[in-house]
Amino acid sequence: MTSGLLVKEGQALPLFWRYHLMAQPEAASASPMDPLCTASSGPRKKRPRQVGASMASPPHDIKFQNLVLFILEKKMGTTRRNFLMELARRKGFRVENELSDSVTHIVAENNSGSEVLEWLQVQNIRASSQLELLDVSWLIESMGAGKPVEITGKHQLVVRTDYSATPNPGFQKISQYACQRKTTLNNYNHIFTDAFEILAENSEFKENEVSYVTFMRAASVLKSLPFTIISMRDTEGIPCLGDKVKCIIEEIIEDGESSEVKAVLNDERYQSFKLFTSVFGVGLKTSEKWFRMGFRSLNKIMSDKTLKFTKMQKAGFLYYEDLVSCVTRAEAEAVGVLVKEAVWAFLPDAFVTMTGGFRRGKKIGHDVDFLITSPGSAEDEEQLLPKVIHLWEKKGLLLYYDLVESTFEKFKLPSRQVDTLDHFQKCFLILKLHHQRVDSGKSNQQEGKTWKAIRVDLVMCPYENHAFALLGWTGSRFERDIRRYATHERKMMLDNHALYDKTKRMFLKAESEEEIFAHLGLDYIEPWERNA
Ligand code: CTP
Ligand code: MN
Ligand code: MN
Repeated sequence: MTSGLLVKEGQALPLFWRYHLMAQPEAASASPMDPLCTASSGPRKKRPRQVGASMASPPHDIKFQNLVLFILEKKMGTTRRNFLMELARRKGFRVENELSDSVTHIVAENNSGSEVLEWLQVQNIRASSQLELLDVSWLIESMGAGKPVEITGKHQLVVRTDYSATPNPGFQKISQYACQRKTTLNNYNHIFTDAFEILAENSEFKENEVSYVTFMRAASVLKSLPFTIISMRDTEGIPCLGDKVKCIIEEIIEDGESSEVKAVLNDERYQSFKLFTSVFGVGLKTSEKWFRMGFRSLNKIMSDKTLKFTKMQKAGFLYYEDLVSCVTRAEAEAVGVLVKEAVWAFLPDAFVTMTGGFRRGKKIGHDVDFLITSPGSAEDEEQLLPKVIHLWEKKGLLLYYDLVESTFEKFKLPSRQVDTLDHFQKCFLILKLHHQRVDSGKSNQQEGKTWKAIRVDLVMCPYENHAFALLGWTGSRFERDIRRYATHERKMMLDNHALYDKTKRMFLKAESEEEIFAHLGLDYIEPWERNA
């Protein structure tokens, strides 16, 4: 029998880690590949395996060589487990103290098949089709018979009829839509997702939308997996992995890295675009221009007398160091206090919600996003952001702002495009955040500087649209996919403003995100499960 378990974590995977460490140095510090710190989950922690009892018992001869048992302690208890292990060993069975990839039979008591599968999932182990999950009755009968009795349906916790047709046994079919998958920050496939995100970014720099979407969807689906891919067999049945993507996965499995990713990372154009777009206010067009003009460093650009910069880019250069160093959650919370204070000074009944990456549970971000809404009058609503800006200006906290007036029309149909911007009034800012006293010892702080420039996005939306705005501004790829799902699977149109049912020809109202999911016939996905 072949190895019954695909051990997904805790095994020696030197090649993997070589790449992994290269691609994902440390969550807290800006990675050379990700100065905007869009990826936030740090290195994975090893989970302790269920450690078996270390009993001092004499070695027993193994009579049944092709069987390797593991007895689950969960719901059975240590004493009974130790007793059964000792008994089985005396009868000539090979019983492992710990779960390893040599185990062929897992024996459990008072557990259903799905409970055992769930337990395996928590251990980051996926049950392969060869692994038998058995009730303790099989072990007890075998002890009585002095040999392994034939396994029948009554012993099997999970009965699988056609193994070949179910490449991910025990797991539901994975949806092609991120809005039907739970994606936490616990990414078991960094080595692959880092690679695909670099390739996607390179495609974006080349304005190749098709290739960008291909790589982003691949990265997104891999982030949702509860296990690490260690062989090509693990990719069977996973959607969004085309031939090109699979080739890259295979190369990474074999060599620990992708030659294409390596080439991109060494590519002068990619490096320049990465550097230029790290400046607030610099997009693809400007990067292209600077690259064509022969610029390769920010210093040369900043000191060039012939170049003209926008107000946004000037601020981007001025506060560059602060803005590329990621916003921590503590800083985001401190900004939240400033925002609420200012908003409530003018509209005491306004709701202020931190959205974006921080709402999804990220520990760091490139900015802090807030959604503001109030059940009050439209006029109060319209005046709020200008008043808040004025207040911060007076207090000397405003380093930059760009107020964008609302172009929202109440009965306009939602946009068909998955990535169009919304029409709400909004303000893109850079705020001066004074350090808390506890932070003052930080090493990255410039001599004598007592504040940090922080990028902040404020969005003001009418009260009846707030659920849609919240869903939209909580973001990640999830947002694009829920809109795609609405269009293709439900004949509905969804954007940051509204949901429209094309069959019923009516807008579907929602007070909460839960109601939007319900309208779409989707199970609710929590914000921290939307890190697609
Ligand atoms: N968004 C938007 N309109 C904009 C800018 C952003 O609808 N003009 C949405 C994006 O689609 C995203 C969310 O707002 O879903 C947050 O965007 P952003 O701050 O860029 O990304 P985060 O997910 O918060 O990641 P980060 O931590 O890097 O800020
Ligand atoms: Mn953000
Ligand atoms: Mn933002």
